[in-house]
Amino acid sequence: MVTRITKNISLVAEHLKQGGIAAVPTETVYGLAANALNPEAVLKIYQTKRRPTFNPLIVHLNNTDDLGKYVSYVPKSAFKLMQKYSPGALTFVLKKKRTIPDIVTAGLDTVAIRFPKHRVMNSLIEQCRFPLCAPSANRFGKISPTTAHEVKQDLDVLIEFILDGGRSNLGIESTVVAFDRNVPVILRYGAVTQEQIESVCGKVKSTRNLTIISPGMIKDHYAPQTPLLLYEGNLSSLKELKWDITTLFLKRGQSLRDFSSELFTRLRKADRKNAEYIVAALVDNNGIGRAINDRLKKASSGFLVLEGGEFKIRKKS
Ligand code: TXA
Ligand code: MG
Repeated sequence: MVTRITKNISLVAEHLKQGGIAAVPTETVYGLAANALNPEAVLKIYQTKRRPTFNPLIVHLNNTDDLGKYVSYVPKSAFKLMQKYSPGALTFVLKKKRTIPDIVTAGLDTVAIRFPKHRVMNSLIEQCRFPLCAPSANRFGKISPTTAHEVKQDLDVLIEFILDGGRSNLGIESTVVAFDRNVPVILRYGAVTQEQIESVCGKVKSTRNLTIISPGMIKDHYAPQTPLLLYEGNLSSLKELKWDITTLFLKRGQSLRDFSSELFTRLRKADRKNAEYIVAALVDNNGIGRAINDRLKKASSGFLVLEGGEFKIRKKS
């Protein structure tokens, strides 16, 4: 199959109406989309990504007015968050109605819903007139793509269309939030920060000691080919290191927000250098830093440590 990068929204809408799948732009990362109400189309997403079918997908809607068609209950705090951060990079896990096929939610009784904020994606959904379910448009376990070109690197030949909507300006996935009664529980850190959520609904709950299922939250993800090592020292101390490494650090004076938006592209670039290791440093663990650290930890295979004046590798446990 020849993979075409196109800006023609109606061409892609037509393909989706016929039960096809296509890569589509959003403000967070590119997604691999299908008609969420067509189980056969949705199955193609899992097959193409080689994604295990126990890992549910996010349903993308344009309009909060449509929520009632797909979910049976919206907690008050979810409603407040929606007023503030939708459309945007916040995904809501809510009790589903039977209108959503089981294959979308991997059999769970909840569905993840997001209202994307991207001109091209919004116009695509409008032309389709059905909700689009879409995971990130990468092979399972790989780095999420933030441009049409990055999608092509990963899914070339496997899909017919990549709808080009420019670079995803946030560059990191949405924050996934579930609700324990009325209290938000962050299942995946992302572009909307914990602090932003707490400013609307007070303290969030931690996922520890909770039984909310999130099958996608497995440890190894976003993995580059080159082993990535986390390092606690500073960049200049690596000058002593004689190995063939490439580094991925916050640039001097760079904001965490800017770092998060270029993180995946820099990871891909670092990977292409074919060094022996990528050495990366975690950042302050607050705000968007939590999402950055989450992705770096999942991308890593171990730690680079300095012990008794010697560099050593410690494997991830
Ligand atoms: O920004 C994003 O969220 C992008 C764009 C394309 O919207 N999508 C994305 O999808 O990152 P994906 O499939 O790569 O990640 C979705 C996450 C997974 O970790 C999945 O397990 C979780 O959301 N999820 C989906 N439905 C869920 C549910 N019903 N309960 C708990 N977690 C769910
Ligand atoms: Mg993903």
